Amino acid sequence: MTSLPPDTDPGHDTSLARQETPGPAMPPRIVVFGGTGFVGQRLIARIARGNRRIVVPSRNRNRQRDLFVIPDVRVTDIDPYSPDDLRRVLEGAHAVINLVGILNEPGRDGAGFRRAHVELTEKIIAACQATGTRRLLQMSALNAGRGTSHYLRTRGEAEARVRASGLDWTIFQPSVIFGPGDGLFERFASLLKLTPVLPLARADAKFAPVYVGDVAEAFARSLDDPTTFGQTYELYGRQAMTLAGIVRYTARHLGLHRAIVPLPDALARVQAAIFDHVPGKPFSTDNYLSLKTDSVGGIDGLHRLGIEATPLDAIVPAQLGLQVRQHRLDAYRRARSG
Ligand SMILES: NC(=O)c1ccc[n+]([C@@H]2O[C@H](COP(=O)([O-])OP(=O)(O)OC[C@H]3O[C@@H](n4cnc5c(N)ncnc54)[C@H](OP(=O)(O)O)[C@@H]3O)[C@@H](O)[C@H]2O)c1
Repeated sequence: MTSLPPDTDPGHDTSLARQETPGPAMPPRIVVFGGTGFVGQRLIARIARGNRRIVVPSRNRNRQRDLFVIPDVRVTDIDPYSPDDLRRVLEGAHAVINLVGILNEPGRDGAGFRRAHVELTEKIIAACQATGTRRLLQMSALNAGRGTSHYLRTRGEAEARVRASGLDWTIFQPSVIFGPGDGLFERFASLLKLTPVLPLARADAKFAPVYVGDVAEAFARSLDDPTTFGQTYELYGRQAMTLAGIVRYTARHLGLHRAIVPLPDALARVQAAIFDHVPGKPFSTDNYLSLKTDSVGGIDGLHRLGIEATPLDAIVPAQLGLQVRQHRLDAYRRARSG
């Protein structure tokens, strides 16, 4: 692995700028796959504060207008599975961040997970090797490689490819991530508003939710820091909670009285099998299998990176409060227009 000097000011890091061909010192160019999503938008806002050029390849550039307003961020159309497109976008890059991941696939045989997690990672590694891009930050998940779900298995396989790549890699394994726009509290908030009774599969599955701002900070600190090369960081929050606890917390902060009904395992499996056939798959057999492995972590990666975990109470009540106010405003507008 290359040994680079410690980064004091990532924006002016000559170790990265060194790789830039030709011309005067250009700001380092960072390519962020999956940068258009929930974590990516937060991460880009964080790393764009340094003197960097950020390229965000997307399968549909025109849907990503929010990113267009950030200076030094360029969103570009790509077929991420095309080796030619990948080489083109990585030409002259100093670092690659791979945030691409899916929670559900269109089919049920694992081929979708394999493609998005393993095949894409292999292709990004090959493009890094072809273009001389040495630095790779790989998003993964807590428990990657454990259990029987396609999600966790393919995460583990992708990690193995990264570790064998010969690149200067760092792997991040978060528990479930919270923050404005998340698929956790906001998703349950939407469900809770619709129904007085919520049947819940794997209600006792444990999580240690981690704040999206802390995840972005972990990536940002590691980006130019050679002491993080070859390291894997578990990212989890201070508070371990069951899934039922997360739903109750959400209901409490929305001011809703709801019955949360834990489903016996056999029924949970049936529920998952039914949802496998619902368009958009709000839940699936693969989700059910992932939930069999608690997502709580063991070695505190945030602490290793000098980051103090942001507590849920500092973010989620305000986040859900905004939703409540928006909900009331929408209802008021509907009443006025009706
Ligand atoms: N959110 C969490 O709680 C959590 C927890 C643990 C791990 N993670 C991992 O963290 C990463 C980011 O999560 P996120 O919540 O920000 O995800 P997200 O909002 O769904 O964004 C992922 C991005 O990846 C791209 N993408 C999605 N499916 C793809 C496919 N099949 N092939 C190629 N590109 C695809 C999309 O970009 P375009 O549509 O622009 O191409 C999308 O914006 C993922 O790897 C996720 O698994 C998330």
